[in-house]
Amino acid sequence: MSPTNSTETTPPARTVASTQSEMTEIILPNDANVLGNLLGGRLMHFIDLTAGIAAYRHSRSFVVTAAMDHIDFIGPVHVGSLLTLRSSVNRAFTSSMEVGVKVWAENALDGRRLHVASAYLVFVAIDKDGQRVRVPRLLPETADQQRRYADALLRREHREAESARRKQGRIAAAARENSETANL
Ligand SMILES: CC(C)(COP(=O)(O)OP(=O)(O)OC[C@H]1O[C@@H](n2cnc3c(N)ncnc32)[C@H](O)[C@@H]1OP(=O)(O)O)[C@@H](O)C(=O)NCCC(=O)NCCS
Repeated sequence: MSPTNSTETTPPARTVASTQSEMTEIILPNDANVLGNLLGGRLMHFIDLTAGIAAYRHSRSFVVTAAMDHIDFIGPVHVGSLLTLRSSVNRAFTSSMEVGVKVWAENALDGRRLHVASAYLVFVAIDKDGQRVRVPRLLPETADQQRRYADALLRREHREAESARRKQGRIAAAARENSETANL
């Protein structure tokens, strides 16, 4: 079904700056593995939350995570570090938005900061009944924002091709299973 919004009109375009979000967390032992480094799954949780806030700010509707792709874990984050995550919408499509997140770890004692992770996520805007909602257009203003906007379209095409390939794989696996069952 095609997406809707409450007024049935295209909502006004929004700037990237209006979607920017930032979150800072102190990493506690409960967030860490046995080596005293932040767990990858916990980091993904923080990334999902920070990215979701940018998607909320852009769409001003409920959002669900449709995909988290291309996450690079660049370096470990030690217990006691301050973790800062920054997100913004890279591009808005019809009901979906690609959000980029960049993560830094800061040594709380000497203030040194390292880039430790980056990720791209896709969120879909929905209303309270779970129906997809049309999202506003995004206005990239700076050269960096325009580059991310262009790259987001390439990543979407890549995601769609990958998703179609996986779907074909599932269909082929199901057909093999059916023929094996029939031969029993
Ligand atoms: C995400 C979801 C709403 C998409 O619904 P759907 O009926 O499969 O939607 P469609 O295939 O018609 O695609 C709708 C939009 O989602 C995008 N989308 C769907 N699956 C996607 C995926 N795996 N990756 C990226 N984008 C995706 C499509 O590109 C499309 O975007 P557009 O409207 O901007 O063109 C649905 O799959 C869902 O509810 N998933 C579970 C979400 C969830 O629970 N997340 C975790 C907890 S928040």
